[in-house]
Amino acid sequence: MLIEIVKISPFDDQKPGTSGLRKSVKKFQTPHYLQAFVQSIFNSIEGLKGSTLVLGGDGRFYNREAIKIILRMAAANGVSKVLLGQGGILSTPAVSHLIRKYKALGGIILSASHNPGGPEGDFGIKYNIENGGPAPEAITEAIYQQSLRLEEYSIAGIQPMPMDKLGSFEIGDLLVEIIDPVTDYADYMETLFDFEKISELLGQADFSMLFDAMNAVTGPYAVEIFQNRLGASETSIMRRRPLGNFGGGHPDPNQAHAKDLMRHLYSATGPSFGAASDGDGDRNMILGNYFFVTPSDSLAIIAANAHLVPGYKDGLKGIARSMPTSQAPDLVAKKLEIPCYETPTGWKFFGNLLDDGRITLCGEESFGTGSDHIREKDGIWAVLFWLNLIAIKQNSVENIVREHWSMYGRNYYTRHDYEGINSAKANDLMDNLKEQLDSFIGKDFAGLKVVVADDFSYLDPVDGSKTEGQGIRIIFENDSRIIFRLSGTGTQGATLRVYVERYIQDVAQHDLDTQEALVELIAIASVLAEIPEYTGREKPDVVT
Ligand code: G1P
Ligand code: ZN
Repeated sequence: MLIEIVKISPFDDQKPGTSGLRKSVKKFQTPHYLQAFVQSIFNSIEGLKGSTLVLGGDGRFYNREAIKIILRMAAANGVSKVLLGQGGILSTPAVSHLIRKYKALGGIILSASHNPGGPEGDFGIKYNIENGGPAPEAITEAIYQQSLRLEEYSIAGIQPMPMDKLGSFEIGDLLVEIIDPVTDYADYMETLFDFEKISELLGQADFSMLFDAMNAVTGPYAVEIFQNRLGASETSIMRRRPLGNFGGGHPDPNQAHAKDLMRHLYSATGPSFGAASDGDGDRNMILGNYFFVTPSDSLAIIAANAHLVPGYKDGLKGIARSMPTSQAPDLVAKKLEIPCYETPTGWKFFGNLLDDGRITLCGEESFGTGSDHIREKDGIWAVLFWLNLIAIKQNSVENIVREHWSMYGRNYYTRHDYEGINSAKANDLMDNLKEQLDSFIGKDFAGLKVVVADDFSYLDPVDGSKTEGQGIRIIFENDSRIIFRLSGTGTQGATLRVYVERYIQDVAQHDLDTQEALVELIAIASVLAEIPEYTGREKPDVVT
């Protein structure tokens, strides 16, 4: 095997964000750019020589080219075996599961998650460690430091790569095994959920579901699991074909980007249950007929009912939620007398808590829910959880949620995103807020008194690592909160996220429109952060 050592000048912009390195496709096509990041990964992980890695992506534009490059580099860097999803396809949760199942050293996931794809879209690359989860900060930082001084990479010569047929091929001493992307994952789901009960539910005349795969990676998973194994009808999966540009859409399962699905569910003749997943299959949105379940509520409801589902029948060790996620899960944890951890945004912060056996479930407001079954959030898993709950409770999504609220109270919750704003201005907005934090404490805003105003930091209870600057929290006397953060996954300018939450226990007030229930807090947020002044915007671009 011919190995070429290619000399390069280091890149200075390969700092991984909330979830790996995410940039425009064009950036990744810059000569040596992808190669430099892959070599930085290889140089930063111990035990690479002779190891097994899992490799796959969400099928977006540039997936196949990237896979060929990574395989050639893996061969040149002494990796023994790569488990590659057929056609280069693997969902993020499937990669996490395969790493764990086959005890691989780690995995490389090619995805920019919910960001648009195609030649003008985004691409991304993320390294997951042997527990199946995203590399923690210490490793992503080491990768970044490596990239800043990287002057060469090793790559094997070009050769045929038959990645579409199950089987195997070799590149020098590297064995590439092409595996079915779905089977292992689907088998695993069968061990966690009551497939018989769910399939009975899907056969009931009074129940129907619609899953939106958003022309992204979950199409084949949904077909195998919902249709082939559980007997859902063919019409119950829309946009099932994975496409390199996701059909031109934005593969983010929320009210703004799954408009067709929303239209179906908000119709008198529409299905009783709706769901969607994102580009790489780790996010989920849950809907009932005329009903949207906030991801924070979904986590809380899954937690409150987990003991009813086979894989979780022994109960929960604890729960974790990211800081901006609503406090609904905390209320469940309190009742169950289990701990509830508050972590910074990003799945990588759940890994230690899961590995240490401190938590069973975790989730984020950004349509991410998961458990200790793998080390990533898991879209199809969340849908199966809801189906299993509905099958047991024989009740509608709306009623299940309302019963939960009547027991625990309702955490009205919304997130407002201001996208593509000037980065310098966004940083100024945050700095301006930080400077005033102390002065906010004790002050009244529209009758609401501030009790905490700080910049969130997290001390990992397992390894003692400290992560600072994770978002501005303004907490009021009645547990209402306003959170400000800048996104760490965007690729153009900056995105300001404003998270607003208000708790109401009184059942008589559980029917308010979310935006109306939060109108005062939203106004306070705008004034405190001087949003129009800094962003030049009167309104957010996306409201979820
Ligand atoms: C966003 C979400 C965050 C999630 C991440 C990856 O990150 O807010 O919860 O973990 O995508 O899916 P952000 O852009 O806010 O940094
Ligand atoms: Zn994703």
